[in-house]
Amino acid sequence: MTSLLITNIGELTTHGPQGTVQHASLVVDDGRVAWVGGASYQPATDARLDVEGRAVIPGFVDSHAHLVFAGSRAVEFAARMAGEPYTGGGIRTTVTATRAASDETLRTNVARLVAEANRQGTTTIEIKSGYGLTVADEARSLRIATEFTGETTFLGAHVVPAGTDPDDYVRLVCGEMLDATRQYARWVDVFCERGAFDVDQAREILNAGAGAGLGARIHANQLTEGDGVRLAVELDAASADHCTHLSGADVKALADSRTVATLLPGAEFSTRSPYPDARALLDAGVTVALATDCNPGSSYTTSMPFCIALAVREMRMTPVEALWGATAGGARALRRNDIGHLSVGARADLTVLDAPSFLHLAYRPGVPLVHTVLRNGEPICTP
Ligand code: NIG
Ligand code: FE
Repeated sequence: MTSLLITNIGELTTHGPQGTVQHASLVVDDGRVAWVGGASYQPATDARLDVEGRAVIPGFVDSHAHLVFAGSRAVEFAARMAGEPYTGGGIRTTVTATRAASDETLRTNVARLVAEANRQGTTTIEIKSGYGLTVADEARSLRIATEFTGETTFLGAHVVPAGTDPDDYVRLVCGEMLDATRQYARWVDVFCERGAFDVDQAREILNAGAGAGLGARIHANQLTEGDGVRLAVELDAASADHCTHLSGADVKALADSRTVATLLPGAEFSTRSPYPDARALLDAGVTVALATDCNPGSSYTTSMPFCIALAVREMRMTPVEALWGATAGGARALRRNDIGHLSVGARADLTVLDAPSFLHLAYRPGVPLVHTVLRNGEPICTP
């Protein structure tokens, strides 16, 4: 058992019963938060970290990322910025590059992106498959993902691979592919969208995943106002992700459910699309999370601070709502209660900002404000 006193915290956001504490201290014991209070507290601890008036927040929980891939789609991005629409068609380009890559290349790419995310304050990251789309390539994508996180998601139903009959592919996903991947996955996801999987196919795949013990999450209503969000609610999915095109009925269904709306403003930024109506969701009482959607096509960023800045500036979330969505909201989207907050008993996953207040995350966009990151009380990034 090792204990650590973090002291001289200018502003501590707990998202717990203590709320926000000015001039705070926090004690970590055996990887968990053991005490939170005023900085005058001087307990006997094994170690001490003076953060010199900086702000401390819970580590970011990035609940939606596609990190197992090879290749680049920078040219596709440039074409979009010149006026081409985003259709998801480029997914197949990444599938070809991913299948051709060695395990070592994929592992190195994931490691680089996870390190990049950590340096920007992320302490938990979800990682999806979805660029293999064969039994062997989906299984190896998830096997590699498990080397980096416990929050792994089987997304064999990303698109139907070129030259494959859609019904045959759904049968493969629900059968042999699920059998080969379930040991490496906690979640199952489907891209429920025109040109990918319709609502009946999505229901079949998510139910098969549930039968294999996997929790459901859905790429819903990203490009069109379809049935994905209502399916997420029907199946009590942990989250409906994107939610860019919502009807009033979708908002109401989410508000009456446990399903989190996970908004991914990096995708709207990088596809030059309208942002989701975060205010309608929040005002209706929906639980809203923010995540990066990091992938080589629609959102090639690992930066939760960037997503917070977009949420505040472009989606009219308050800075408090945006920080909550990027931490506690992400935890809800993963049905976790041990992360995303700094109450006594929570995991000591926290980020020290080189700023006096968390407000600077949106106030100083694009500036690297992360000073130190601890996971389970251990430093994973230092200045
Ligand atoms: O969440 N929409 C589906 N999947 C990803 C994009 C994948 C890609 O373009 O490679 C997303 O935006
Ligand atoms: Fe995604």
